[in-house]
Amino acid sequence: MSVTIEVPNTPVRPHKRGVNWEKWGWIYMRVSGIALIVLIFGHLFVNLMVGDGVKAIDFAFVAGKLTNPFWIVWDTAMLWLALIHGANGMRTIVNDYATRERTRMILHGALVVSTVALLILGTLTIYAFDPCPAGSPAEHLPSFCGVAG
Ligand code: HEM
Repeated sequence: MSVTIEVPNTPVRPHKRGVNWEKWGWIYMRVSGIALIVLIFGHLFVNLMVGDGVKAIDFAFVAGKLTNPFWIVWDTAMLWLALIHGANGMRTIVNDYATRERTRMILHGALVVSTVALLILGTLTIYAFDPCPAGSPAEHLPSFCGVAG
């Protein structure tokens, strides 16, 4: 008696024609992973180890960083690359474990909604950030705000 074993990596929807999004998603995970090693460890090193390290982190520290175009670009890249990386990774996990089409649709929908909301909120935080909010005590603000205190 012979037993036929199903190919374990058979895709749910076999790729036919046009752009192979699954392949580009696979490549994105590797390329963004490499970029994230630099971005995340650079971020942790500068925030936690350089100068006074973790003790220096307060509102003024963050406000100072977010007025520097270098850190604005760094933080934006980290936000977008990590969020899309995480969401695409979760999409893979949903595809691996959710077998019912309806469950998949709900989970994928939740992923898209939460990812888009966080991308908008995070990007607004970086670009609409006010380092010198009116009426704040001078000791909490960066020195360039010019508030006597
Ligand atoms: C040092 C930075 C990172 C590197 C080098 C990295 C690398 C990778 C790689 C290569 C994969 C694909 C694995 C596979 O297909 O089998 C992956 C999957 C994944 N990553 Fe990352 N990643 C990093 C940071 C992150 C961050 C910050 C998040 C969350 C926001 C995240 C969430 C995920 C998830 C959810 C998966 C899917 C796991 C799975 O399929 O079982 N990763 N990562």
